[in-house]
Amino acid sequence: MWKPPERIKHTSSLGKVPSRDALAVSRLCSPVKVGPLTLTSRTWVPAMVPWRATEDGYVTDDVLAWYERFAQGKPGAIVVEATGVRDIPSGPLLRIGDDRFLSGLRELVDVVKRASDGETKIFIQIIDFLSIRRRPDPKKFIQSYLAITDEQRKKLGFESAGDDEVRAALMKLPHEQLVSVLSPREMEDLDYGARERVTDTHLPHIQNLPEVLPDFFASAAVRAEQVGFDGVELHYAHAYTMASFLSAKNTRDDDYGGVKENRVRLPLEVYQAVREATGDKFAVGCRYLAEECIEGGSTLADSMYFGVEFAKAGMDFISLSRGGKFDDAAQPKVGWSAYPYTGPSGYECMPQNLSDAFGPFGRNLHATSLIRRAIRKAGKITPIVVAGGIHNFEMAENILQNRDADIIGAARQSLADPDWFLKLKRGCGDDIRLCEYTNYCEGLDQKHKQVTCKLWDREELNEPDVMKSEDGKRRLIAPEWRKEN
Ligand SMILES: Cc1cc2nc3c(=O)[nH]c(=O)nc-3n(C[C@H](O)[C@H](O)[C@H](O)COP(=O)(O)O)c2cc1C
Ligand code: SF4
Repeated sequence: MWKPPERIKHTSSLGKVPSRDALAVSRLCSPVKVGPLTLTSRTWVPAMVPWRATEDGYVTDDVLAWYERFAQGKPGAIVVEATGVRDIPSGPLLRIGDDRFLSGLRELVDVVKRASDGETKIFIQIIDFLSIRRRPDPKKFIQSYLAITDEQRKKLGFESAGDDEVRAALMKLPHEQLVSVLSPREMEDLDYGARERVTDTHLPHIQNLPEVLPDFFASAAVRAEQVGFDGVELHYAHAYTMASFLSAKNTRDDDYGGVKENRVRLPLEVYQAVREATGDKFAVGCRYLAEECIEGGSTLADSMYFGVEFAKAGMDFISLSRGGKFDDAAQPKVGWSAYPYTGPSGYECMPQNLSDAFGPFGRNLHATSLIRRAIRKAGKITPIVVAGGIHNFEMAENILQNRDADIIGAARQSLADPDWFLKLKRGCGDDIRLCEYTNYCEGLDQKHKQVTCKLWDREELNEPDVMKSEDGKRRLIAPEWRKEN
């Protein structure tokens, strides 16, 4: 993962640990309305893909155990990992594009309700993504994948040559000369792997995304409601289809690209379709980017506008993330796919302990606070979820007291210690295992390996019934908190 060149080491801290009584009257511990629901506290476990579904997208025992463990800490809400709305092969990512996925998802809801004694609300993050190919072997790319064009012929001075002749000529060129013959997009396909964009409107399936996506999302939400989820989080963040519609880099020349009013159109239409298809007791919100953190990306003014539009449309919550784009991702090895969390924008999404002077804690706070203020100024009370390096009570409570956000998202801190909030509630805040923000977990995610935390995955490996990773070297679930209370 990319890191800021300053490489200043930041250390997480427990901060001021509240007494049981102080916690009880804190804002963190107070209930909050999320549309038709009331969360028992303002603690939220944001979506984290743990790479535990089957290759066909079904819930496994490992998936159940992952969410059960978070639920034992009784946060206000858990958002289940990004789950595909289409019924297409997506590797070991959860899917909700067909009824055959429902029995596993129903079990997942039941497990969370049971383990949290009904205290935790459960949402599912629903996602659409476009196709991305692995970085090709250069020879294979030129021999087979590259489409031969007149533009290349012209640049090579081979105006009337056949495709084979053009390929043969290209094969002889060193990489630095290929740049002068191939288009920037063809070079990107060669160096990074081909990746579809929402602006590829010459492709019929991209052109018609605005026609098909509202139904895909609405059907997925209906299924989620059927199996007992309390709500859905529409995934409008990071490197995926809906975020790409919102992005300033969306230059589609139809009603869905260009000016911000057009870019927000599909996200609003998807929301409307989901809202109309689901019942009054079902919460619908979205996660989008407070800042894209890429050159040429949307501005903070754009994100403030989007937030106000989402709130006015009636969304029940808005969760803000940042960065995580393909645009500045590192070049993958041949045979691997680009990963949107490997460049500077990826750093902004999951900031690490080696950082710049600002550090990894609360990097999304300023932008979130401005978006929240714009929404309040528009007269809307939509609760706002913030995430990014928030790991102790003092930090969380300050954010809430300052009205910078309404709900605290803690992803990696909840992975490091799923009981962190429960420990606070029981007056055992000093026992919290603090996330060190080294991103060992994110490294596993990047390699599509089962995600665990380095602080506990080698602990008590020989205890009976410990679920282990495929290589048997890591435990998959945080050990139980044994303190009697
Ligand atoms: C292993 C892992 C998987 C993640 N998967 C998702 C995901 O499916 N959807 C999403 O919106 N964010 C995902 N994220 C980002 C987190 O939700 C969160 O925004 C980010 O880690 C910053 O919050 P934190 O500092 O509290 O960890 C993932 C993060 C990690 C570490
Ligand atoms: S591996 Fe554990 S300690 Fe390290 S960043 Fe991830 S959750 Fe935090």
